[in-house]
Amino acid sequence: MNYLNIALAKGRLASKAIELLISCGYSFKDYCKESRKLIFEDEINNIKITLVKSPDVPVYVENGAADIGIVGKDILLENKYNVYELLNLNVGKCNMCIAGFKDKIPDYSKKVVVGTKYPNITKNHFSQLNILTDIVKLNGSVELAPIVGLSDIIVDIVESGNTLKENGLVVHENILEISARLIANKVTLKTKYHKIQNIIQSLESIVERGGPDEKVLS
Ligand code: PRP
Repeated sequence: MNYLNIALAKGRLASKAIELLISCGYSFKDYCKESRKLIFEDEINNIKITLVKSPDVPVYVENGAADIGIVGKDILLENKYNVYELLNLNVGKCNMCIAGFKDKIPDYSKKVVVGTKYPNITKNHFSQLNILTDIVKLNGSVELAPIVGLSDIIVDIVESGNTLKENGLVVHENILEISARLIANKVTLKTKYHKIQNIIQSLESIVERGGPDEKVLS
């Protein structure tokens, strides 16, 4: 069976991506947000979705383990991947921010210690400003870094702002706007052209009309 394989970023972006695909007319009967299942199929349209950690989406797509993927622009900016970026899906919108304590803006004329999951984005940002940094690479719960004295500030994505607020931190500066992108494997974009083109066209029209249908997921 010639399935189209789609890698989706697990977590909050997964349900938004699945809502988009359902609005395109696909159906994943056994998907629910709480499920621990990682593969879901639309057997009528021969579509298979795989839920993977967000930094792994472009890895799956680059290596052909998935034909297309939906992933945040943050992941695509942090590392280079040999994939096509096809479409800004305009969901999963958030900002890449510098954040820290309200009353503790660091002295940027001295070296600043930055905690982040995004060392490359962070390094590029501060080196463009000629600011010296020590970067502490973390894998999550980045907001803890200034609290426990691991860093002066953090660079991280902020969506609702709740994580910062509940941990007593504030945004110092927004540095990038982020949203979900559709990416494709460079070979299967040709070999599965019609199938991928159908999805691109459906997604484009949903993006144009302002997003997925309301309440497609319970
Ligand atoms: C991300 C990000 C922030 C949080 C921001 O973490 O790193 O911690 O979401 O979202 P908010 O502004 O809506 O609160 P994620 O939930 O991916 O978890 P992690 O800490 O395990 O990386």
